[in-house]
Amino acid sequence: ALMDDAPKPLAGRTAIVTSGPTHEPIDPVRYIANRSSGKQGHAIAAHLARLGAQVTLVSGPVTIPDPAGVNVIHVESAREMLDAVTNALPADIAVFVAAVADWRVSASADNKIKKKEGEGPAPLELTENPDILRTIGHHQNRPQLVVGFAAETADVISNAQAKLARKGADFIVANDVSPETGIMGGDRNRVRIVSKDGVEDWPDLSKDETAARLAARIAKFIADWD
Ligand code: CTP
Ligand code: CA
Repeated sequence: ALMDDAPKPLAGRTAIVTSGPTHEPIDPVRYIANRSSGKQGHAIAAHLARLGAQVTLVSGPVTIPDPAGVNVIHVESAREMLDAVTNALPADIAVFVAAVADWRVSASADNKIKKKEGEGPAPLELTENPDILRTIGHHQNRPQLVVGFAAETADVISNAQAKLARKGADFIVANDVSPETGIMGGDRNRVRIVSKDGVEDWPDLSKDETAARLAARIAKFIADWD
């Protein structure tokens, strides 16, 4: 009931959010993936919906539940994620939180690859995956607001600024995911919002609080635009 009383500054707006990892098959039983719980992306989808947006969440394989009030599309690979995002266009807002695998196996095997006695494994030949954020950031149907994430372990701001330009994003939400921060898989986040206007330093917050604040920041961007 509390949630239903919240103001709805994003009523009438549509949003796409990507979340979780992607799995890139090696064979029917093995895959390549990034570490990602989906917690941050799912929380952002939920908070955009709470502010009144009609949200499509394109999620890679995660163990957390689908957020309520959100249209969830489950995918496995980066190519499936790109297709689902493209099919969800047009949208007013797109937030790319997924930890997309940068590479896939060039030709995944139809049958389980067997060990051969005394022989090492055959090397895996990899191919670069499509960059979903970059594709949508330069798309003819580009959403009015495009937000990316940059999980870095060094040079956080300069890497985020490079991604802002390269990918055609309005904001990059940058965070330091070095092992000592404990952010990967945890419940807290400390982000900086990098845009053409500069860098906003946000405090250490729960992933849910980070999501609430980002959803409010997105609503402000949309309101300022009108
Ligand atoms: N991203 C994406 N599709 C990809 C790779 C990344 O949509 N194939 C998005 C992520 O969801 C994130 C942003 O791009 O919003 C940055 O991802 P990141 O992995 O940090 O950037 P890369 O360009 O892949 O650079 P690198 O991994 O070399 O740091
Ligand atoms: Ca990457």
